[in-house]
Amino acid sequence: MFASKFSLSIATAAVIAGGFAAWQAWAANDRVQFPEGYENGIHYATVNRGGIREEIFTSPEAVAAAKAGQPLPDGTIIMMEDHRSGGLHRYVVMEKRAGWGDAYPENFRAGDWEFREFAPDRTPNIREDGQRCMSCHQSQAGQDFVFTLDRMRSAN
Ligand code: HEC
Repeated sequence: MFASKFSLSIATAAVIAGGFAAWQAWAANDRVQFPEGYENGIHYATVNRGGIREEIFTSPEAVAAAKAGQPLPDGTIIMMEDHRSGGLHRYVVMEKRAGWGDAYPENFRAGDWEFREFAPDRTPNIREDGQRCMSCHQSQAGQDFVFTLDRMRSAN
């Protein structure tokens, strides 16, 4: 009786551990921290789409690399403020770190970038696992997965 209960719980633990590992491999996108002080970087673009106004920021190092036609450096963070109906709706952030992409299958990763959404109070949205972000930004693989790379190149 004891033995069968014991082996059942081992089996359950193995299934849970396996499920957790698979979830981590496919849907982590939880390593990006809120980039406090981002507004001291370079505000390189404003994009207006319908009722949405987006303000986009990155580091001077990233802008320099974009202008030089180099890949964006390791550690690059791009912040996009998403304003709707006159108020801040959310923040979306992408961050590039060497090796981060290894956690994802080849056809799924967006280079070494991870993506994360934050609420206006700067806490992460834990319901957003970043898969949509990655798959849409994959279309920009030819320009380091960044839609607004041209805007970065022409930043002042
Ligand atoms: C359906 C496509 C799509 C999805 C999904 C998407 N994005 Fe984007 N993203 C864009 C486009 C297009 C832009 C360029 C700005 C614009 O046109 O609004 C952009 C711009 C950005 C930028 C500024 C840098 C750049 O690439 O220009 C960041 C940061 C960003 N997105 C993060 C995210 C995050 C985080 C998520 C998921 C929560 C996400 N995106 C989901 C299409 C997408």
